[in-house]
Amino acid sequence: MRPKKTSSSKTPAADTSQEGWRAGKDLLTIKSLEIRDIELIMGSAATFHEVSGRAIKTVPALRGRTIANLFIEPSTRTRISFELAAKRLSADVVNLSGASSSIVKGESLVDTARALESMGVDLVVIRHSAAGAAHSLARAINAAVVNAGDGAHEHPTQALLDLFTIRAHGKKLDGLRVVMIGDISRSRVARSNIHLLTKFNANVCVVGPPTMIPPHIEQLGVSVSHHLEPALKDAQVVMILRVQHEREQRSLYPSIQEYARWYGVTKERLALAASDVLVLHPGPMNRGVEISTEVADGLSSVILDQVANGIAIRMAVLYLLTVKQ
Ligand code: CP
Repeated sequence: MRPKKTSSSKTPAADTSQEGWRAGKDLLTIKSLEIRDIELIMGSAATFHEVSGRAIKTVPALRGRTIANLFIEPSTRTRISFELAAKRLSADVVNLSGASSSIVKGESLVDTARALESMGVDLVVIRHSAAGAAHSLARAINAAVVNAGDGAHEHPTQALLDLFTIRAHGKKLDGLRVVMIGDISRSRVARSNIHLLTKFNANVCVVGPPTMIPPHIEQLGVSVSHHLEPALKDAQVVMILRVQHEREQRSLYPSIQEYARWYGVTKERLALAASDVLVLHPGPMNRGVEISTEVADGLSSVILDQVANGIAIRMAVLYLLTVKQ
């Protein structure tokens, strides 16, 4: 839910006193998180969400700390919201992209991160096209590492902001009927969300052509359908995944038009879902392909709430990893 404007200048303290962060120095996967750590993030994010609704949006929680955002793969939402999250916590922030760093001269990721650490960086946020890149960094440096998306592996803060958004709209996770549509095989958003939602006993159905559904995915506690319309019936949450043009997908479906015809979520198809269904999409959207404009901008859409909530989730993660060790 997007924050409401308030005029308070009071600085809230995230209520993490009774139960500290125990999930280690890094946030690399959802799979490895326990419910108590997830609830700690949710509680801190609720506190920080209030800050984003103020006229003055900063608190001094991370004053004197330094955060480096190392984005070797393009990003709008994740990169900007990590930067805003750090700034709203009063941290010093440095931003590096692949193109503007010595990585273009052949420097390794680990050497880059070690150089940042030598300059006093406390936490590195990393997005990379290679699965496992964040893990490699976390092993090589003492600073905390946050995975902002590693190839097709995981995107933990996206799943956390999705959970926060679903709850903010009054949904209980236990037994919640969630339909996830698209390229499950290559989606880090899908993988992180499957791990997260099934931890809370949501009833998750993944939908897509057989070429986009990994074999044996039922072992993760989800059901599978290759037919969108029956799967949408009575769904309470519809998570639509992006068709990832930048990753080679031509072999996975005959044409964009065909994908849209079979798996595109339109207003007519969404009418099969529960009347209070929530529509989520991690962005960026391909309007007219996986989602119609009527659905993207419709009353059920909480897509912009996801973006807004991302700042609160990332404030919570940065705070917990930097301060509450
Ligand atoms: N959801 C997401 O990761 O979007 P960006 O690629 O714009 O960061």
